[in-house]
Amino acid sequence: MDRIVVHRSGPLHGEVVVPGAKNSVLKLMVGSLFAAGEHRLSNVPDISDVRTMGSLLGSLGIDVTYRPESHELILVNSGGIGSNAPSEQVESIRASINVLGPLLACCGRVRLDMPGGDDFGSRPIDMHIAGLSAMGAEFDTAVDHIEAVAEHLRGADITLDFPSVGATENIVCAAVHADGVTTLRNAAREPEVADLCELLVEMGARIDGIGSSVVVIEGVARGSLHPVSHAVVNDRIQAATYMAAAAVTGGDVMVRGARADHMQMFLRKISDMGVDVIPSSDGVRVTASGRLRNVDVQTLPYPGVATDYKPLLVTMMAVAEGVGVMTENLYPGRFRYVEELSKLGADIRTDGHHAIVHGVDQLRGAAVVAPDIRAGAALVVAGLVADGRTIISGLEHVERGYDDLLGRLGALGAHIEPAP
Ligand code: UD1
Repeated sequence: MDRIVVHRSGPLHGEVVVPGAKNSVLKLMVGSLFAAGEHRLSNVPDISDVRTMGSLLGSLGIDVTYRPESHELILVNSGGIGSNAPSEQVESIRASINVLGPLLACCGRVRLDMPGGDDFGSRPIDMHIAGLSAMGAEFDTAVDHIEAVAEHLRGADITLDFPSVGATENIVCAAVHADGVTTLRNAAREPEVADLCELLVEMGARIDGIGSSVVVIEGVARGSLHPVSHAVVNDRIQAATYMAAAAVTGGDVMVRGARADHMQMFLRKISDMGVDVIPSSDGVRVTASGRLRNVDVQTLPYPGVATDYKPLLVTMMAVAEGVGVMTENLYPGRFRYVEELSKLGADIRTDGHHAIVHGVDQLRGAAVVAPDIRAGAALVVAGLVADGRTIISGLEHVERGYDDLLGRLGALGAHIEPAP
């Protein structure tokens, strides 16, 4: 479905189950490069980025089968993996950069074309390169590709300038087979990073400090890891999307599988906005009635408010009472959806990495374009409270990261249909 019509929908009610996280599963899939045999992942979301990563891994010699009925992914590594990642898939997803560390660790060399992904400004990889170079890798980078060689990586003491998710994951993976101990300081602490570390430990890697900012990896011999079955961590961003939809429509939704412990700052912010947040062992129930109140928010590395929540929060702020300021500290260019929200009548002014949001009484339907995954989902949420019809194109972005967003929202009472 390329284009949809979202109608103003009454309060959303009911229960929705949160799928596995895109930002975890793509990295867990890459874990299959570490050991010959059959790897199994469960709780795998049915999203196009999984298919793209599957085809990238296929070109490296991994046989990937997805079973949509059971949300299971089977990855067979028959040994003899390649180290050249072809441009077609590498260019289309950002997570393709995650083959860098594993291929260096397992093959001692890697060549891949420069990564793509969401288009929200420059996404440098200098920290990946600096960390892997400190471990003995030699890089040859050009505008369109990266090549690296390291017959023997050695453990190193590395401090990241910034807790980058991707750099943390690549350095941890490279260190799995390095000689000696690698200590990574100022590491990213996101639940998805911890999920990858836990998978590697289950496979036989030695990693301490998982989920903390100092991760210590003791290298083990190549060929000593073994395949495992692992369940993908639930997606905190998809969970947040259903919470935002419930909040703006004044609904009551049980988001089953949402991990309150992974979403504390987000939950605190929406609670400050007037949403009732009721965490339990099964998930998080959110209820809202009356108008939301505006708040100031800034995006920060975990456990701060993730940049991926931002379009959802700005959508909530756009219809809340009063004025709120959203400050983006990770990706300054990630405000492109503001123009689209403005077409729906939102009153938002951007100034550098700040967006000043004056809440309006009512959004009104218009034709808008989804600029990336999260912004696309946020426009769908906005459409639920806009008067009239909101026609959204560019839905293929949303399908990269959301497992049946429209079906799940529909089951909660959202009125969404294909555009004629
Ligand atoms: C990952 C997620 C993305 C999420 C982001 C932040 C995937 C595929 N993507 O992206 O959805 O929005 O984390 O939670 O999992 N930086 C550098 N040099 C580097 C690496 C990063 O300057 O070598 C900067 C980036 O430009 C950005 C910040 O560090 O400003 C964070 O980047 P990082 O945490 O690496 O995010 P990604 O792995 O790109």
